[in-house]
Amino acid sequence: MANQEDKFKKVVSHAKEYGYVFQSSEIYDGLSAVYDYAQNGVELKKNIREYWWKAMVQMNDNIVGLDAAIFMHPTTWKASGHVDAFNDPLIDNKDSKKRYRADVLIEDYVGKLDAKIEKEVAKAAKRFGESFDKTEFLATNTRVVGYKAKGEAILQRMGKSLEKEDLADVKLLIEELEIGCPLSGSKNWTDVKQFNLMFGTKLGASADTAMDLYLRPETAQGIFVNFLNVQKTGRMKIPFGIAQTGKAFRNEIVARQFIFRMREFEQMEMQFFVRPGTQKEWYEQWKENRLKWHLSLGMGEDNYRFHDHDKLAHYADAAADIEFRFPFGFKELEGIHSRTDFDLKAHEEHSGKKLQYFDPEINERYVPYVVETSIGLDRMFLAVFSNSLQEEALENGTTRTVLKLPAVLAPTKAAVLPLVKKDGLPEIAKKIVEDLKWDFNVAYDEKDAVGRRYRRQDANGTPFCITVDHDTLTDDSVTIRHRDTMEQQRVKISELKALIKEEVDVKNWLMKM
Ligand code: GAP
Repeated sequence: MANQEDKFKKVVSHAKEYGYVFQSSEIYDGLSAVYDYAQNGVELKKNIREYWWKAMVQMNDNIVGLDAAIFMHPTTWKASGHVDAFNDPLIDNKDSKKRYRADVLIEDYVGKLDAKIEKEVAKAAKRFGESFDKTEFLATNTRVVGYKAKGEAILQRMGKSLEKEDLADVKLLIEELEIGCPLSGSKNWTDVKQFNLMFGTKLGASADTAMDLYLRPETAQGIFVNFLNVQKTGRMKIPFGIAQTGKAFRNEIVARQFIFRMREFEQMEMQFFVRPGTQKEWYEQWKENRLKWHLSLGMGEDNYRFHDHDKLAHYADAAADIEFRFPFGFKELEGIHSRTDFDLKAHEEHSGKKLQYFDPEINERYVPYVVETSIGLDRMFLAVFSNSLQEEALENGTTRTVLKLPAVLAPTKAAVLPLVKKDGLPEIAKKIVEDLKWDFNVAYDEKDAVGRRYRRQDANGTPFCITVDHDTLTDDSVTIRHRDTMEQQRVKISELKALIKEEVDVKNWLMKM
């Protein structure tokens, strides 16, 4: 645990030191759970967004994009159920005066049971070596089976109590499990209460005529209300999808863990409209497809797992999370939801407008069902960034800090370094930068010894360093150093573009899907 905390602290401080993420309004002591993306962060974020957009929109003939406004007619949120049901169960600790999400306290307790299971597995794997059979061990080891059953029973009881709005039982569960305040350890809790997460605002200049609005808590509703506009103008045939990236806002009670849970964040969502009755098939297909997208980035198969929901949101008939191993354990990264026809039907009822599709193949008119994929861009950023940050012991006894970002996502693809600041080397280096910058983000760096510059670029996540030396003057060649292996290669300047493209090209990465 201490190790995990240390690693997480390093992630947060590295993100600041290398110009990735800053606390919002830092000079005024910051704003809780609101962050700004700095010069490198904005590039990484843009590259993740593009990687998603290419995979979802550009590569799928039947998915198109949308950029709906953040402000929406307030009835939208009545129809979607957010006014009445977008609540978190909160609980206060009377001694520490800290507020928590009751369900998160319980989930964290179960997370500790999961950690115990992982510990048992690691111990047994070490003991049995090659002959270790993980599946059999998980099914037969009494301690592991006990932890698993306990965790499942707890989550099931919590799910049922939340569904029935039995908040007294949620409190009882916290007391029975003897869960203490994570900060003070105190078990002196208030009752559990519901708290709506939407931010309210006003539209209009005069107080009498101003209209109460909400900042959208999800981008999805912008897609639902435009469903028929897009279907008709794009002559889309079911099944088809509408994809959108954009800001969403939630007044999170427990806003901690850096950019994992923010009050202003960005979502990348896709609603896939299907014929009623086919939603389960599409749901399974999108689960598989989205996992493949994650795996294409090469961040380790073991770092992902599915979590199928027992407790379903008011709009869903099936739902799963893709969880990622963050520095603080496995947590939700993306949601895949089979949302039925709930949203479109609700908008029909509240607007009085039909939101139906005529299916020429079966000669029928119907309200389509929807399968949604929804990922937080900031959460994906944290997954990529935290997984990439590594301390590596080198053969010479020193260590290096290296940000092994997937090259396709790296903010700067190459840094060009003249070995010395004289003899015409800076001019050649600058010329290389001028040529390459039409295709890639490249940096020029002439300050400090070349070894220090390598380290700086390693920590910055730059996949290539290109060094111009005195031989370049006569052979038109440079040394290209690969960030991850630290291997160096002598290549012609004219070969640089193709070599870098091979490593950073979106196509080469997405082809792994
Ligand atoms: N339209 C469905 C929807 O919004 P969700 O599970 O509430 O579903 C989807 O959110 C994704 O948005 C999550 O998997 C997560 O990646 C991201 N997300 C949700 N709340 C967030 C927050 N407060 N901060 C950062 N990301 C968040």
